[in-house]
Amino acid sequence: MKPLRMALTKGRLEKSTVGLLEHSGMDCTALREKGRRLILPVGGPESSPELEVVLSKAPDVLTYVEHGVCELGVVGKDVIQEHGGRFFEILDLGFGKCGFALACPKGTDFFSGYQSKTIATKYPNVARRFFESKAMDVRIIKIEGSVELAPLLGLADGIVDIVETGATLRENGLEVVESISEISARLIVNPAAMKLRKQEIEALAGRLETQVQKEEEKV
Ligand code: PRP
Repeated sequence: MKPLRMALTKGRLEKSTVGLLEHSGMDCTALREKGRRLILPVGGPESSPELEVVLSKAPDVLTYVEHGVCELGVVGKDVIQEHGGRFFEILDLGFGKCGFALACPKGTDFFSGYQSKTIATKYPNVARRFFESKAMDVRIIKIEGSVELAPLLGLADGIVDIVETGATLRENGLEVVESISEISARLIVNPAAMKLRKQEIEALAGRLETQVQKEEEKV
């Protein structure tokens, strides 16, 4: 039987996921010394690893899991909320914690006045749902990075973005007006794989869950 494949979000979540796999007893040497390799064996000998890890950009993790080329994925709840998709979300991994928030230049009153407002964001679906829930008609402009620039340049009245430490907002004269939702890394599973390889997937998820609980007890 082929090893299970896990698509792993490169960057922010990568280090914590490798740590979690290692603490769950899987050798991640190949993943730590990856060089330019994109499919990496984890646990067991290279010829028959317990798991194969595929390093990907976050939205691609959803794509690979939806299409079943990777049975499992590790991705942030932010990406799940923005893109949605056909997969099961089976475990909150407890790291990559941050939140979505509406933020504006310090001292401005976003909710005052009758003029419709403009919001810049990398997450237009999240922003749209948030303002729909308030029955507010808002213009949304999609920005790819450093969304905090938009109000500073006069492009938008505010932003909907991820806030982790709050440092980026502080250093750019912005402040949170309202928190929208909490975010952390999630383990997702392809629905067909969940049926066909139930035992293997449950065994792996069980091992990870035990470790996640241990980490939470330490806090
Ligand atoms: C995210 C987010 C904020 C920043 C918040 O960007 O878009 O800019 O992190 O973190 P803080 O509250 O700890 O300052 P990221 O670093 O992922 O880069 P990006 O803008 O390229 O997406």
